[in-house]
Amino acid sequence: MSALFQPFKLKDVTLRNRIAVPPMCQYSAIDGKVNDWHLSHYASMARGGAGLVIVEATGVAPEGRITPGCTGIWSDELAQAFAPIVREIKAAGAVPGIQIGHAGRKASANRPWEGDDHIAADDARGWDTIAPSAIAYGKDLGKVPRAMTLDDIARVRQNFVDAAIRARDVGFEWLELHFSHGYLAQTFFSAHSNQRDDMYGGSVENRSRFLLETLRAVREVWPENLPLTVRFGVLEYDGRDEQTLAESIGLVREFKASGMDMISVTMGFTIPETSIPWGPAFLAPVVERVRREAGVPVSSAWGFGTPEIAERVIREQQLDLVMVGRAHLANPHWAYFAAKELGVERASWTLPAPYAHWLERY
Ligand SMILES: Cc1cc2nc3c(=O)[nH]c(=O)nc-3n(C[C@H](O)[C@H](O)[C@H](O)COP(=O)(O)O)c2cc1C
Repeated sequence: MSALFQPFKLKDVTLRNRIAVPPMCQYSAIDGKVNDWHLSHYASMARGGAGLVIVEATGVAPEGRITPGCTGIWSDELAQAFAPIVREIKAAGAVPGIQIGHAGRKASANRPWEGDDHIAADDARGWDTIAPSAIAYGKDLGKVPRAMTLDDIARVRQNFVDAAIRARDVGFEWLELHFSHGYLAQTFFSAHSNQRDDMYGGSVENRSRFLLETLRAVREVWPENLPLTVRFGVLEYDGRDEQTLAESIGLVREFKASGMDMISVTMGFTIPETSIPWGPAFLAPVVERVRREAGVPVSSAWGFGTPEIAERVIREQQLDLVMVGRAHLANPHWAYFAAKELGVERASWTLPAPYAHWLERY
């Protein structure tokens, strides 16, 4: 019997299997608003059989978008535009999730296929960026952000809360806070990017403050019976990983004590020069350690997108949920494909009836 195709229950939400589509920016919104591209994209992923579909990193404020094409949820109008997406994901039997975030100093960038670098200073499409300290990321993202004031910090925290309320009201059932990948929250945690000398910088306790305050404030408005998860980079592969990992696991324990239901384990990406050991399931031992030492359910991405690997990491209890990203772009029916590969009985019924009926004996 396949472990990957066992249901997964978190709070009052039950996923039909252990396969999730992780947030993947489409860079196709206009002024933050989702459109038909997003509807067909997310609907097809959900119809493909995944248990959970998490909508891409969605800005809690206009300046928190990564690119001008990124989605936003800073107004009721923008939130309402997600309603058809939520409806279609649910209609396909998957759970609709959304990742909300603020890109900090990595914001105001060109789309990946248009350079992936910061928009030039004299280009009206760009905007000023903010971060814990006035330190640029580097390389192609060389724009120096403005160091946030305490008022900025309070405002962005409230932006997260307002975004969570809107996500709740439009019907999302799973909320992920984007505290990773070198965006705003991750740059508060990392000493590479946070050199503040107030209560939000310095000690690990201070560098954790923005993340914990934001999580706690969001938990107050996000329904108790629905999953609240955090995506967090627990290491950087910068040669200081033992210390970073120890600090990160300590913080994950605090996330748990503050109402987080699950952690999506990833990397920090706060510096351009790293030695990441890319390869199939390379993060699995790190994820398993977080799971064991912090005592929380875990998910992860990066190289789990073959049926055998996904099945193994669930069976061996290294992960509770597998994020399959690019393999879903290649094949939105990845879950069906995996079910067939793994010999799951009646694999075709991971798809909706108008497909499944024809594929049953195909
Ligand atoms: C097109 C694209 C967009 C992405 N956008 C996001 C995002 O919005 N938020 C996020 O946390 N990760 C994002 N990621 C990272 C993915 O969630 C995932 O971690 C990555 O694709 C590795 O998983 P995979 O090996 O299964 O593809 C993105 C990745 C891709 C390919």
